[in-house]
Amino acid sequence: MSDDHDHHDGDDDHELRVSKIRDGTVIDHVHGGQALNVLAILGIDGSNGEEVSVGMNVPSDRLARKDIVKVEGRELSQDEVDVLSLIAPDATINIVRDYDVVEKHRVERPDVVEGVLSCPNAGCITTGDEPVTSRFSVLEDGVRCSYCETIVRDEIADLIDT
Ligand code: CTP
Ligand code: ZN
Repeated sequence: MSDDHDHHDGDDDHELRVSKIRDGTVIDHVHGGQALNVLAILGIDGSNGEEVSVGMNVPSDRLARKDIVKVEGRELSQDEVDVLSLIAPDATINIVRDYDVVEKHRVERPDVVEGVLSCPNAGCITTGDEPVTSRFSVLEDGVRCSYCETIVRDEIADLIDT
């Protein structure tokens, strides 16, 4: 199937695997295998009737294999993009309106994420009864709780607080 849109990249227009969307967000260049974590971060499990397309392990120029997530009718908040950057550091966020990409930016890893991840350490002050907002510093290869110093490298998506 050929895509007659007139853009000129090499990624996926020889064979369009996932339909174009009309209005919404395309999260592109997600490392292969992370698409389901992207959905978890966005709080999408299909139960709210969201229109979502996912491509997994599709060939890519920039990455060996990439995942791609297309969400119709939704633009992402900065908090969501910050957390996405932790599991998809090379992702591109494309805002689509009326079928055109009107904005494209790479995610940026923040130095700190506050209030979006919960510490896995049951003894941490942030997981007790007193309300203390979680705070993690972002490392090269993971995140570190600013209160108890617990480091999480894999499974960051499991800490998402939504
Ligand atoms: N896309 C989409 N629906 C649209 C427009 C674009 O699903 N109406 C998708 C494309 O399939 C692509 C991504 O959004 O995966 C970015 O589109 P575009 O900028 O046209 O593609 P590229 O030039 O390949 O982007 P990049 O340079 O970031 O790889
Ligand atoms: Zn902690």
